[in-house]
Amino acid sequence: MVARRRRNGEKAMILVTGASGTVGSEVVKALGGGGARVRAAYRTRPQKVPKGVESVALDYDRPETVRPALKDVETLFLLSNTVDVERTVVDEARKAGVKRVVKLSVLRAEDEAFTFARWHRGVEKYIEASGLLWTFLRPNGFMQNVVTYMSETIRKESALYASAGNGATSHVDARDIGAVGAKVLTESGHEGKAYELTGPVALTYGQIAESLTAALGRPIRYVPISHAQYKQAAMAAGTHEGYADALVELSRYYEEGHAARVSPAVRQLTGRDPIPFAQFARDYADKLR
Ligand SMILES: NC(=O)c1ccc[n+]([C@@H]2O[C@H](COP(=O)([O-])OP(=O)(O)OC[C@H]3O[C@@H](n4cnc5c(N)ncnc54)[C@H](OP(=O)(O)O)[C@@H]3O)[C@@H](O)[C@H]2O)c1
Repeated sequence: MVARRRRNGEKAMILVTGASGTVGSEVVKALGGGGARVRAAYRTRPQKVPKGVESVALDYDRPETVRPALKDVETLFLLSNTVDVERTVVDEARKAGVKRVVKLSVLRAEDEAFTFARWHRGVEKYIEASGLLWTFLRPNGFMQNVVTYMSETIRKESALYASAGNGATSHVDARDIGAVGAKVLTESGHEGKAYELTGPVALTYGQIAESLTAALGRPIRYVPISHAQYKQAAMAAGTHEGYADALVELSRYYEEGHAARVSPAVRQLTGRDPIPFAQFARDYADKLR
Protein backbone atom coordinates (compact mmCIF):
# COMPACT_ATOMS: atom_id res chain seq x y z
CA MET A 1 0.00 0.00 0.00
CA VAL A 2 1.41 3.38 -0.95
CA ALA A 3 0.52 6.38 1.20
CA ARG A 4 -0.43 9.35 -0.95
CA ARG A 5 1.45 12.52 -0.20
CA ARG A 6 0.53 16.18 -0.41
CA ARG A 7 2.78 18.61 -2.29
CA ASN A 8 4.48 19.63 0.95
CA GLY A 9 5.53 16.00 1.49
CA GLU A 10 3.03 15.45 4.30
CA LYS A 11 0.99 12.28 4.02
CA ALA A 12 -2.61 12.82 2.92
CA MET A 13 -5.27 12.38 5.60
CA ILE A 14 -8.01 9.79 5.14
CA LEU A 15 -11.22 10.11 7.17
CA VAL A 16 -13.19 6.89 7.72
CA THR A 17 -16.80 7.43 8.83
CA GLY A 18 -18.83 4.74 10.60
CA ALA A 19 -15.56 3.46 12.03
CA SER A 20 -17.22 1.36 14.75
CA GLY A 21 -19.51 -0.45 12.29
CA THR A 22 -19.26 -3.65 10.27
CA VAL A 23 -17.51 -2.12 7.25
CA GLY A 24 -15.85 0.98 8.74
CA SER A 25 -14.03 -1.07 11.38
CA GLU A 26 -12.64 -3.36 8.66
CA VAL A 27 -11.54 -0.39 6.55
CA VAL A 28 -9.67 1.10 9.52
CA LYS A 29 -8.09 -2.28 10.28
CA ALA A 30 -7.02 -2.78 6.68
CA LEU A 31 -5.52 0.71 6.52
CA GLY A 32 -3.56 0.12 9.73
CA GLY A 33 0.16 -0.31 9.30
CA GLY A 34 0.00 0.73 5.64
CA GLY A 35 1.65 4.07 6.26
CA ALA A 36 -1.46 6.17 5.61
CA ARG A 37 -2.60 8.96 7.94
CA VAL A 38 -5.98 7.76 9.15
CA ARG A 39 -8.64 9.52 11.18
CA ALA A 40 -11.49 7.32 12.34
CA ALA A 41 -14.84 9.03 12.94
CA TYR A 42 -17.05 7.68 15.70
CA ARG A 43 -20.52 8.79 16.69
CA THR A 44 -19.96 7.26 20.09
CA ARG A 45 -16.28 7.49 20.93
CA PRO A 46 -14.90 4.05 21.78
CA GLN A 47 -12.62 3.33 24.73
CA LYS A 48 -9.83 2.29 22.40
CA VAL A 49 -8.91 3.12 18.81
CA PRO A 50 -6.45 1.12 16.72
CA LYS A 51 -2.80 2.03 17.22
CA GLY A 52 -1.55 4.84 14.98
CA VAL A 53 -5.07 6.01 14.13
CA GLU A 54 -6.44 9.44 15.10
CA SER A 55 -10.04 9.58 16.25
CA VAL A 56 -12.73 12.23 16.04
CA ALA A 57 -16.34 12.56 17.18
CA LEU A 58 -18.75 12.82 14.25
CA ASP A 59 -22.52 12.68 14.49
CA TYR A 60 -24.50 13.37 11.31
CA ASP A 61 -27.36 14.58 13.50
CA ARG A 62 -25.09 17.25 15.04
CA PRO A 63 -23.95 19.31 12.01
CA GLU A 64 -21.44 21.24 14.15
CA THR A 65 -19.35 18.03 14.41
CA VAL A 66 -19.01 17.52 10.64
CA ARG A 67 -16.69 20.40 9.72
CA PRO A 68 -14.02 19.78 12.40
CA ALA A 69 -13.89 16.08 11.47
CA LEU A 70 -13.12 17.03 7.84
CA LYS A 71 -10.26 19.41 8.62
CA ASP A 72 -7.15 18.62 6.48
CA VAL A 73 -8.83 15.55 4.98
CA GLU A 74 -7.96 14.67 1.39
CA THR A 75 -9.92 11.44 0.98
CA LEU A 76 -13.19 10.57 2.67
CA PHE A 77 -14.62 7.08 3.19
CA LEU A 78 -18.33 7.78 3.48
CA LEU A 79 -21.01 5.51 4.88
CA SER A 80 -24.19 5.92 6.84
CA ASN A 81 -27.24 3.88 7.75
CA THR A 82 -29.83 6.33 6.47
CA VAL A 83 -27.90 7.33 3.30
CA ASP A 84 -29.69 10.64 2.57
CA VAL A 85 -27.75 12.31 5.40
CA GLU A 86 -24.57 11.79 3.35
CA ARG A 87 -25.51 14.79 1.14
CA THR A 88 -24.72 17.20 3.97
CA VAL A 89 -21.34 15.55 4.49
CA VAL A 90 -20.60 15.86 0.76
CA ASP A 91 -21.40 19.59 0.87
CA GLU A 92 -19.12 20.09 3.87
CA ALA A 93 -16.40 17.93 2.28
CA ARG A 94 -16.36 20.16 -0.79
CA LYS A 95 -16.11 23.29 1.36
CA ALA A 96 -13.34 21.72 3.44
CA GLY A 97 -11.17 20.98 0.38
CA VAL A 98 -11.61 17.20 0.34
CA LYS A 99 -10.53 15.84 -3.05
CA ARG A 100 -12.16 12.43 -3.31
CA VAL A 101 -15.04 10.55 -1.75
CA VAL A 102 -15.06 6.75 -1.59
CA LYS A 103 -18.71 5.96 -0.95
CA LEU A 104 -20.09 2.69 0.40
CA SER A 105 -23.11 2.03 -1.79
CA VAL A 106 -24.98 -1.17 -2.65
CA LEU A 107 -24.93 -3.87 -5.34
CA ARG A 108 -26.56 -2.78 -8.59
CA ALA A 109 -27.32 0.72 -7.31
CA GLU A 110 -27.23 1.81 -10.94
CA ASP A 111 -30.42 -0.14 -11.72
CA GLU A 112 -32.35 1.58 -8.88
CA ALA A 113 -34.48 -1.58 -8.74
CA PHE A 114 -35.10 -1.57 -4.98
CA THR A 115 -35.41 1.11 -2.31
CA PHE A 116 -31.87 0.89 -0.90
CA ALA A 117 -30.47 1.05 -4.45
CA ARG A 118 -32.53 4.18 -5.13
CA TRP A 119 -31.30 5.80 -1.89
CA HIS A 120 -27.68 5.03 -2.70
CA ARG A 121 -27.88 5.98 -6.37
CA GLY A 122 -29.44 9.31 -5.35
CA VAL A 123 -26.37 10.10 -3.24
CA GLU A 124 -24.00 8.73 -5.89
CA LYS A 125 -25.53 11.17 -8.39
CA TYR A 126 -25.22 13.98 -5.86
CA ILE A 127 -21.50 13.18 -5.45
CA GLU A 128 -21.01 12.97 -9.22
CA ALA A 129 -22.52 16.46 -9.56
CA SER A 130 -20.50 17.89 -6.64
CA GLY A 131 -17.24 18.29 -8.54
CA LEU A 132 -15.46 16.00 -6.09
CA LEU A 133 -13.58 12.99 -7.41
CA TRP A 134 -15.35 9.77 -6.48
CA THR A 135 -15.12 6.01 -6.23
CA PHE A 136 -18.16 3.88 -5.41
CA LEU A 137 -18.03 0.51 -3.67
CA ARG A 138 -21.19 -1.47 -4.40
CA PRO A 139 -21.23 -4.58 -2.22
CA ASN A 140 -23.73 -7.39 -2.16
CA GLY A 141 -25.28 -8.39 1.19
CA PHE A 142 -22.67 -8.91 3.89
CA MET A 143 -21.85 -12.40 5.23
CA GLN A 144 -21.68 -10.66 8.61
CA ASN A 145 -25.49 -10.15 8.44
CA VAL A 146 -25.71 -13.75 9.67
CA VAL A 147 -24.07 -12.61 12.91
CA THR A 148 -25.69 -9.15 13.14
CA TYR A 149 -29.27 -10.15 12.38
CA MET A 150 -29.57 -13.95 12.64
CA SER A 151 -27.32 -15.04 15.49
CA GLU A 152 -30.05 -15.13 18.13
CA THR A 153 -32.15 -17.84 16.42
CA ILE A 154 -29.02 -19.68 15.30
CA ARG A 155 -27.85 -19.85 18.94
CA LYS A 156 -31.21 -20.53 20.56
CA GLU A 157 -33.05 -22.62 17.94
CA SER A 158 -30.26 -23.72 15.55
CA ALA A 159 -32.42 -22.11 12.87
CA LEU A 160 -31.92 -19.48 10.20
CA TYR A 161 -35.08 -17.59 9.15
CA ALA A 162 -35.24 -15.69 5.85
CA SER A 163 -37.83 -14.83 3.22
CA ALA A 164 -35.56 -15.24 0.19
CA GLY A 165 -36.94 -18.67 -0.76
CA ASN A 166 -34.36 -20.62 -2.74
CA GLY A 167 -32.78 -17.53 -4.31
CA ALA A 168 -28.99 -17.60 -4.35
CA THR A 169 -26.98 -14.52 -3.34
CA SER A 170 -23.24 -13.89 -3.68
CA HIS A 171 -22.80 -12.47 -0.15
CA VAL A 172 -19.48 -10.72 0.47
CA ASP A 173 -17.33 -10.73 3.61
CA ALA A 174 -16.98 -7.23 5.13
CA ARG A 175 -13.26 -7.98 5.55
CA ASP A 176 -12.99 -8.04 1.75
CA ILE A 177 -14.80 -4.70 1.58
CA GLY A 178 -12.28 -3.39 4.13
CA ALA A 179 -9.36 -4.64 2.04
CA VAL A 180 -10.76 -3.09 -1.14
CA GLY A 181 -11.57 0.13 0.73
CA ALA A 182 -7.99 0.44 2.01
CA LYS A 183 -6.64 -0.16 -1.48
CA VAL A 184 -8.74 2.43 -3.28
CA LEU A 185 -8.35 4.99 -0.48
CA THR A 186 -4.57 4.91 -0.73
CA GLU A 187 -4.05 4.63 -4.49
CA SER A 188 -4.81 6.83 -7.43
CA GLY A 189 -6.42 5.40 -10.56
CA HIS A 190 -9.78 4.59 -8.97
CA GLU A 191 -11.36 7.97 -9.69
CA GLY A 192 -14.70 7.79 -11.51
CA LYS A 193 -15.00 4.03 -10.97
CA ALA A 194 -17.69 1.91 -9.36
CA TYR A 195 -16.74 -1.54 -8.10
CA GLU A 196 -19.28 -4.29 -7.54
CA LEU A 197 -18.12 -6.43 -4.59
CA THR A 198 -19.33 -9.99 -4.11
CA GLY A 199 -18.22 -13.25 -2.59
CA PRO A 200 -16.75 -16.02 -4.75
CA VAL A 201 -20.05 -17.83 -5.38
CA ALA A 202 -23.82 -17.39 -4.96
CA LEU A 203 -25.42 -19.48 -2.21
CA THR A 204 -29.01 -20.12 -1.16
CA TYR A 205 -29.87 -19.84 2.54
CA GLY A 206 -30.15 -23.64 2.52
CA GLN A 207 -26.49 -23.84 1.45
CA ILE A 208 -25.55 -21.20 4.02
CA ALA A 209 -27.21 -23.33 6.72
CA GLU A 210 -25.17 -26.35 5.53
CA SER A 211 -21.96 -24.33 5.84
CA LEU A 212 -22.96 -23.19 9.35
CA THR A 213 -23.72 -26.81 10.26
CA ALA A 214 -20.18 -27.81 9.26
CA ALA A 215 -18.57 -24.87 11.08
CA LEU A 216 -20.60 -25.15 14.30
CA GLY A 217 -20.64 -28.94 14.48
CA ARG A 218 -24.41 -29.16 15.01
CA PRO A 219 -27.32 -29.11 12.53
CA ILE A 220 -28.54 -25.63 11.56
CA ARG A 221 -31.85 -25.52 9.65
CA TYR A 222 -32.97 -22.96 7.12
CA VAL A 223 -36.59 -22.04 7.75
CA PRO A 224 -38.09 -20.17 4.79
CA ILE A 225 -40.70 -17.61 5.91
CA SER A 226 -43.13 -15.45 3.96
CA HIS A 227 -42.44 -11.80 3.19
CA ALA A 228 -45.32 -10.85 5.49
CA GLN A 229 -43.75 -12.83 8.36
CA TYR A 230 -40.38 -11.19 7.70
CA LYS A 231 -41.92 -7.72 7.77
CA GLN A 232 -43.76 -8.52 10.99
CA ALA A 233 -40.55 -9.82 12.63
CA ALA A 234 -38.58 -6.73 11.53
CA MET A 235 -41.23 -4.41 12.96
CA ALA A 236 -41.44 -6.44 16.18
CA ALA A 237 -37.68 -5.87 16.50
CA GLY A 238 -38.22 -2.09 16.32
CA THR A 239 -37.77 -1.39 12.60
CA HIS A 240 -40.16 1.28 11.33
CA GLU A 241 -42.61 0.25 8.64
CA GLY A 242 -41.01 2.02 5.66
CA TYR A 243 -37.64 0.45 6.40
CA ALA A 244 -39.24 -2.98 6.95
CA ASP A 245 -40.88 -2.65 3.51
CA ALA A 246 -37.47 -1.86 2.00
CA LEU A 247 -36.01 -4.98 3.65
CA VAL A 248 -38.83 -7.12 2.24
CA GLU A 249 -38.26 -5.65 -1.21
CA LEU A 250 -34.55 -6.61 -0.95
CA SER A 251 -35.49 -10.13 0.14
CA ARG A 252 -37.74 -10.47 -2.88
CA TYR A 253 -34.83 -9.25 -5.03
CA TYR A 254 -32.65 -12.02 -3.55
CA GLU A 255 -35.44 -14.58 -4.00
CA GLU A 256 -35.71 -13.72 -7.68
CA GLY A 257 -31.98 -14.33 -8.13
CA HIS A 258 -31.00 -10.75 -9.04
CA ALA A 259 -28.15 -10.68 -6.50
CA ALA A 260 -26.50 -13.91 -7.67
CA ARG A 261 -23.89 -12.59 -10.04
CA VAL A 262 -20.24 -12.88 -9.08
CA SER A 263 -17.85 -10.00 -9.62
CA PRO A 264 -14.07 -10.29 -10.21
CA ALA A 265 -13.40 -6.95 -8.43
CA VAL A 266 -12.18 -8.26 -5.06
CA ARG A 267 -9.62 -10.45 -6.81
CA GLN A 268 -8.61 -7.70 -9.24
CA LEU A 269 -8.15 -5.12 -6.49
CA THR A 270 -6.63 -7.22 -3.70
CA GLY A 271 -4.79 -9.87 -5.72
CA ARG A 272 -6.52 -12.69 -3.84
CA ASP A 273 -9.82 -14.51 -4.08
CA PRO A 274 -12.76 -13.25 -2.01
CA ILE A 275 -13.35 -15.07 1.29
CA PRO A 276 -15.76 -18.00 0.83
CA PHE A 277 -18.75 -18.38 3.17
CA ALA A 278 -17.32 -21.61 4.67
CA GLN A 279 -14.25 -19.64 5.83
CA PHE A 280 -16.42 -16.83 7.19
CA ALA A 281 -18.48 -19.41 9.12
CA ARG A 282 -15.36 -20.93 10.70
CA ASP A 283 -13.92 -17.50 11.61
CA TYR A 284 -17.17 -16.28 13.21
CA ALA A 285 -18.27 -19.60 14.74
CA ASP A 286 -17.71 -18.38 18.31
CA LYS A 287 -20.27 -15.61 17.80
CA LEU A 288 -22.89 -18.16 16.70
CA ARG A 289 -22.44 -20.88 19.33
N1 LIG B 1 -25.85 -4.99 5.50
C1 LIG B 1 -25.70 -5.26 4.22
O1 LIG B 1 -25.82 -6.43 3.80
C2 LIG B 1 -25.37 -4.16 3.24
C3 LIG B 1 -25.11 -4.50 1.90
C4 LIG B 1 -24.76 -3.48 0.99
C5 LIG B 1 -24.69 -2.16 1.44
N2 LIG B 1 -24.96 -1.87 2.75
C6 LIG B 1 -24.86 -0.47 3.19
O2 LIG B 1 -23.89 -0.40 4.23
C7 LIG B 1 -24.17 0.74 5.04
C8 LIG B 1 -24.07 0.34 6.50
O3 LIG B 1 -22.74 -0.10 6.77
P1 LIG B 1 -22.42 -0.99 8.05
O4 LIG B 1 -23.24 -2.24 7.98
O5 LIG B 1 -20.97 -1.08 8.19
O6 LIG B 1 -23.07 -0.11 9.19
P2 LIG B 1 -23.24 -0.45 10.73
O7 LIG B 1 -22.46 -1.68 11.11
O8 LIG B 1 -24.69 -0.41 11.04
O9 LIG B 1 -22.51 0.77 11.40
C9 LIG B 1 -22.96 2.09 11.18
C10 LIG B 1 -21.86 3.04 11.58
O10 LIG B 1 -22.34 4.36 11.38
C11 LIG B 1 -22.31 5.05 12.62
N3 LIG B 1 -23.45 5.95 12.74
C12 LIG B 1 -24.74 5.63 12.92
N4 LIG B 1 -25.48 6.74 13.01
C13 LIG B 1 -24.63 7.78 12.89
C14 LIG B 1 -24.78 9.19 12.94
N5 LIG B 1 -25.96 9.77 13.13
N6 LIG B 1 -23.67 9.96 12.78
C15 LIG B 1 -22.46 9.41 12.58
N7 LIG B 1 -22.25 8.08 12.54
C16 LIG B 1 -23.33 7.28 12.71
C17 LIG B 1 -22.35 3.99 13.69
O11 LIG B 1 -21.83 4.53 14.91
P3 LIG B 1 -22.30 3.99 16.35
O12 LIG B 1 -21.53 2.68 16.53
O13 LIG B 1 -21.90 5.00 17.31
O14 LIG B 1 -23.79 3.77 16.26
C18 LIG B 1 -21.48 2.91 13.05
O15 LIG B 1 -20.11 3.21 13.18
C19 LIG B 1 -25.56 1.23 4.64
O16 LIG B 1 -25.44 2.36 3.83
C20 LIG B 1 -26.12 0.05 3.85
O17 LIG B 1 -27.10 0.45 2.91
C21 LIG B 1 -25.29 -2.82 3.66
